[in-house]
Amino acid sequence: MSETTDLDAQSLRGFLTMVERRFPDELLRIRERVDPRFASTAAVFELERAGRSPVMVFEDLGGLGDLSGQAQAAGAAPAARPMPLVTNIAANRALLAACLDVSEEALPTAFRERCRSYLPCTVVPRGAWEDAVIEGDDLDLTRLPIPLQFSVDAAPYITAGQLTARDPETGVDTTGFHRLMLKGRNRLGVSLHSRRRMYEFHRRAAARGQNLPVAITLGVHPLHYMGSMVYAYPPDVRKFEIIGGLFGAPYQLARCGVADLEVPAGAEIIIEGEILADVHEPEGPFGEFTGYASFRSTQNVFVAHRLRMRRDALFHSVVSGMAKDHILVSCITREGEILNALKRNLPNVTGVHVPHSTCGAFTAIIAMRKTAEGEPQMAVMAALGTELYTKHVIVVDDDVDIFDLNDVFWAIATRVRAEQDIFFVPGAKGAILDPSSDPQSFTVTKMGIDATRPTGRDFAERLVIDEDERARARALLERAGIPL
Ligand SMILES: Cc1cc2nc3c(=O)[nH]c(=O)nc-3n(C[C@H](O)[C@H](O)[C@H](O)COP(=O)(O)O)c2cc1C
Repeated sequence: MSETTDLDAQSLRGFLTMVERRFPDELLRIRERVDPRFASTAAVFELERAGRSPVMVFEDLGGLGDLSGQAQAAGAAPAARPMPLVTNIAANRALLAACLDVSEEALPTAFRERCRSYLPCTVVPRGAWEDAVIEGDDLDLTRLPIPLQFSVDAAPYITAGQLTARDPETGVDTTGFHRLMLKGRNRLGVSLHSRRRMYEFHRRAAARGQNLPVAITLGVHPLHYMGSMVYAYPPDVRKFEIIGGLFGAPYQLARCGVADLEVPAGAEIIIEGEILADVHEPEGPFGEFTGYASFRSTQNVFVAHRLRMRRDALFHSVVSGMAKDHILVSCITREGEILNALKRNLPNVTGVHVPHSTCGAFTAIIAMRKTAEGEPQMAVMAALGTELYTKHVIVVDDDVDIFDLNDVFWAIATRVRAEQDIFFVPGAKGAILDPSSDPQSFTVTKMGIDATRPTGRDFAERLVIDEDERARARALLERAGIPL
């Protein structure tokens, strides 16, 4: 890596330096040349099975990524060597908590508070990615070290591309991940299926008969990843201002070469281009966060005009499918967003859990200290109102550990009377990628489950073993040489 600059504090390489210094066991380097087909993804899943979630650097992905022959040196040409693949940067709660400088336990609260402390951005004169420029006939995205992740994938996918564009009506910009299917030297398929800002900006541009100017940023800090997933905020706020709030300092941006877009100055690679207004082409299938091959897509097309990069650029990829790298941030974001929405009206809500096993999306579990009948129903409606992906909401009393799914199932088993405690909202907008959503309208039936005890009358008493007794039992077992 080149020498560090002040931009690096907000960059992918700044994050890697922090991990190497503070959590040396959590950064693994593979120096051997590996097959760009499946090897990096399979290695991460093997580690996950073994209970490990380290950041991984694959230094040679099939020899791909030597772009030195293509670059016009606008400073210095890129180094002649394979470009390293960095992956699994957001799979580890301890590392994400360290990014916010808090404990793992404090992560959801710190995230939910700081993502509302919007900070104006700073625009610096030069991006770190201005070392080299590749354009015209030299531009060849197939030379990037883009892994093929699952055998169902239609092609290698760029999975860590943060797409930035401005609202054609208001000029406010956004940034977010969108999967990018490698189709050719300057052509990528893109799906805007989450139907949030980028989808809407493209729709507004297309209504005017215009392509949407877009910059793809590759190689950002995990706090950019986290901030880009925030969805409930005022329309005049920039996502970059949310990310600045997470950093606790103005996010440093630089003007790139497409329209008047500003992108993170410390990024590794910028691809400038546009999403075409009216062109739709097959895109997918792709191994999605649902654990299924997804054939559903908005089938848009991005045409690249120019690539700029750091001299020794790193290529970032998110591990797809149900990998933690793909899902953990969604869990934390949704927990924070739902908690923020609930706390406005229900101060007795004590926690929210969006489990990984429900794809970090489809089920939310809410704990509350219920004071009146009907509060769980209010909580369900508020949670469903914040997020179209969430379709099942379970409300439990605060004696239930919402992070222990066994405890949650026990509450459902013993506190739910189905005819009065389960209710449905049919025909609601759902997620396109949810395989159970209607194949034409993408609607779903939402469900609330009130698994709380009734108020105002006696209910069966829960069995508990008190803390002193538990401590004595642990001491007894220890003396008997029985490890716990
Ligand atoms: C790794 C990853 C990949 C994603 N891929 C897509 C995608 O291909 N299409 C999409 O519409 N949303 C995708 N999302 C979700 C969006 O990034 C997310 O909803 C974001 O907030 C949308 O930003 P926007 O409001 O700027 O559109 C992805 C999220 C993650 C974490």
